Amino acid sequence: MRVAIFASGSGTNLQAIIDAQIKTIEIVLVFSNKSDAYAIERAKNHNLAVEVIDHKYFESREDFDSEIIRLLEPYNLDLIILAGYMRILSPVLVRAYKGKIINIHPALLPSFPGINSTRQALEYGVKYTGVTVHFVDEGVDTGPIILQSIVEIEDRDTEESVLEKIHKVEHQIYPEAIALVSSDQIELKGRRVVKKS
Ligand code: GRF
Repeated sequence: MRVAIFASGSGTNLQAIIDAQIKTIEIVLVFSNKSDAYAIERAKNHNLAVEVIDHKYFESREDFDSEIIRLLEPYNLDLIILAGYMRILSPVLVRAYKGKIINIHPALLPSFPGINSTRQALEYGVKYTGVTVHFVDEGVDTGPIILQSIVEIEDRDTEESVLEKIHKVEHQIYPEAIALVSSDQIELKGRRVVKKS
């Protein structure tokens, strides 16, 4: 599969995906909305194609996403992987790549969607949080779940220490989930993502 990875930040997930050398994908593009994202450095270090469009120059989410759609067209993508991409996708983009966008979220969805999920989990007092990889639909963090993994919150934990554990798990399960999606091993049954029989 020809894939693009979208990242706005440090790009440790991007790095994990690159390092995993998943045989069923070719990373044809790394896209960012931030020209100073460290993810871009990582992409360049691996000679990957990079494109940046700054959302600040667009009046609406829809205008910005329409420009992204134009940019992506020649890449003939089969899959878009969101890896710390800090923009909510408008329906324009989600519909253009229906069923072909996946995201990683640092909580056990449907608990703690949106931003600062680890802080939310600590404040709520849950004993377990985790990581969710899911398809992207038109809601925020609401799409069908591909993989989840658990992280324990212990008494001595802080937001930083939980985030550290979460990142470790992310770097393991995102490549696993991408391998599943890109090797045609799963299908959707309603909201459930199941292994093909
Ligand atoms: C990750 O925690 C991911 O779950 C969230 O954004 C963070 C990105 O981290 N969506 P990185 O840029 O991959 O290091």
